Amino acid sequence: MNGSESVIETHGLSKHFGRHRGIEDVSLSVRRGEVFGLLGPNGAGKSTAIRLLLGLIRPSAGSGSVLGLDCWRARRAIHRRVGVLPSDFAYEDMLTGREVIDFFRRLRGLPADGRADELAERLRADLDRPLKQLSRGNHQKIGLIQALVHDPELLMLDEPTGGLDPLMQEEFLRIVEELRDDGRTVLLSSHNMAEVERACDRVAMIHQGGLLAVETVDSLLSRAPRHLRVTFDGPADAAPFAALDGVRDVRATGNSVEMDVAGDINGALKLATARHVVDLVCERPSLEHAFVRLYEDEDSGGEL
Ligand SMILES: Nc1ncnc2c1ncn2[C@@H]1O[C@H](COP(=O)(O)OP(=O)(O)OP(=O)(O)O)[C@@H](O)[C@H]1O
Ligand SMILES: [Mg+2]
Repeated sequence: MNGSESVIETHGLSKHFGRHRGIEDVSLSVRRGEVFGLLGPNGAGKSTAIRLLLGLIRPSAGSGSVLGLDCWRARRAIHRRVGVLPSDFAYEDMLTGREVIDFFRRLRGLPADGRADELAERLRADLDRPLKQLSRGNHQKIGLIQALVHDPELLMLDEPTGGLDPLMQEEFLRIVEELRDDGRTVLLSSHNMAEVERACDRVAMIHQGGLLAVETVDSLLSRAPRHLRVTFDGPADAAPFAALDGVRDVRATGNSVEMDVAGDINGALKLATARHVVDLVCERPSLEHAFVRLYEDEDSGGEL
């Protein structure tokens, strides 16, 4: 397989619900073997994008393909090949997890063997209780298992860690790492920046139905401001730092001054070392930081 082959591609994909915008003019491509994150606030359009890719709703404009197949016209063929966790995986049902997993397996025309027991053990899921008796997180585990059970070449997971406790989130992220090592492609949506930072190679940031950015997590982080904190041997002064290019949010407290530095940090460092420095901390930004900055820039651009 060609490593740069696209397994998901959209061109100007748009969906309107009457007067309401779902997504607008989304063009992106996900390569085979990538873990790709869709990140955005409530109502941004993440689930709409996933539902369009799965042919569950019809595009208002534009097109999309999954595994080379048209999302709308070839939706049945796509469903057979993709492991899916919908955003609303919930069954008020007397069926057990095992029965529900089996139901979806038969719908997709897949053989009876699979990883259900192994995954259930790792995620501490009970496959033999009726779904209606399960807590939200334990319900979600059944949804994850039915998506993963047959090692599909492509997974689309809408908020996969929703409702999972931190230990199970961690186990899920390990499973995603294994899938990536195994050459599978994963598209997942999330609100959790730390999770996306850890799991994803690239991320699409969606805001009000449109794409704000599609970038590698590494490049987003490298462009985001560093947080710098300097402690001197006497009272710190914020003003000289605040006058520097690319320096924002300067705060001086006692002998310390802290700030966010976008781009080159040498100006701030030179200014700091002109005095006697007792301590210096330069923190790598979190994805959350990068993300908030992007949104702020978007908002100040008068687009909202
Ligand atoms: N069936 C529908 N009818 C009308 N509007 C809809 C419908 N489905 C989605 N929308 C609208 O489309 C927009 C995007 O919704 P979507 O569910 O894709 O957001 P999301 O990014 O998944 O949000 P969340 O993080 O809350 O899951 C919202 O404004 C929503 O109100
Ligand atoms: Mg959603």
